[in-house]
Amino acid sequence: MKTPMARLDRLLANLGYGSRREVQGLIGAGLVEFDGETLRDTGRKLPVTPDLPGRMRVQGAPLDPPAPLTLMLHKPLGVVCSHRETGRSLYELLPIRWRARDPVLSSVGRLDADTTGLLLITDDGPLLHRIISPRNHVGKRYRVTLDRPLRGDEAALFAAGTLMLEGETTPLTPACLHPLSPTTAHLTVTEGRYHQVRRMFAAAGNHVTALHRDRIGGLDLPADLAPGAFRKLGDAERAAVFEQMPP
Ligand code: URA
Repeated sequence: MKTPMARLDRLLANLGYGSRREVQGLIGAGLVEFDGETLRDTGRKLPVTPDLPGRMRVQGAPLDPPAPLTLMLHKPLGVVCSHRETGRSLYELLPIRWRARDPVLSSVGRLDADTTGLLLITDDGPLLHRIISPRNHVGKRYRVTLDRPLRGDEAALFAAGTLMLEGETTPLTPACLHPLSPTTAHLTVTEGRYHQVRRMFAAAGNHVTALHRDRIGGLDLPADLAPGAFRKLGDAERAAVFEQMPP
């Protein structure tokens, strides 16, 4: 594949380092280096490769990762995924400069404020749509804690492909329930409807008291990723999202 090239000033502006004029100021002040050489030409064309942060420094620090960028984040309790909702936004967990990136970083689907766990964030639109499209059957696994013990018929109800949530006109696609104890279970769904898991258990006469997503496709939330922490997704992890979920 041909290596994409970008003009230096545009590259820096798109990574949120400032307006075109501001980044031209940074370059003019000799604060941008590439392979140890100070860059002075704002229109210099550079190869946009994943190793760029190792080769380029801005104000003495490695360049931020260029697009396409995909992150995994351990969403903590109380953080909201949408820009429009009130409350602490997950974008506040990322470096402030990243809010000015173009293309923008967006969460891959949403978790409720009171749901914790694995959340992917990307500026790669086609990737985002591949993950959320129910046609691709990427499973999202939730660890559910319930107010009351399971009745015993929930697995069949969720697997039937006929469960209709209140106010909706199409039934849910089959979902897989795996009880862990009388009041806890793993539930894997391939859709992402509004408050889906909570509403599924409400339809089964129960109430979810805690919800944690621990897996997307074949990608597990790493045990060493603390609530609120994030990191860049590696190529193997990205591929794992589209692998069959282990049983
Ligand atoms: N289902 C829900 O009800 N809430 C979430 O945050 C995710 C799935």
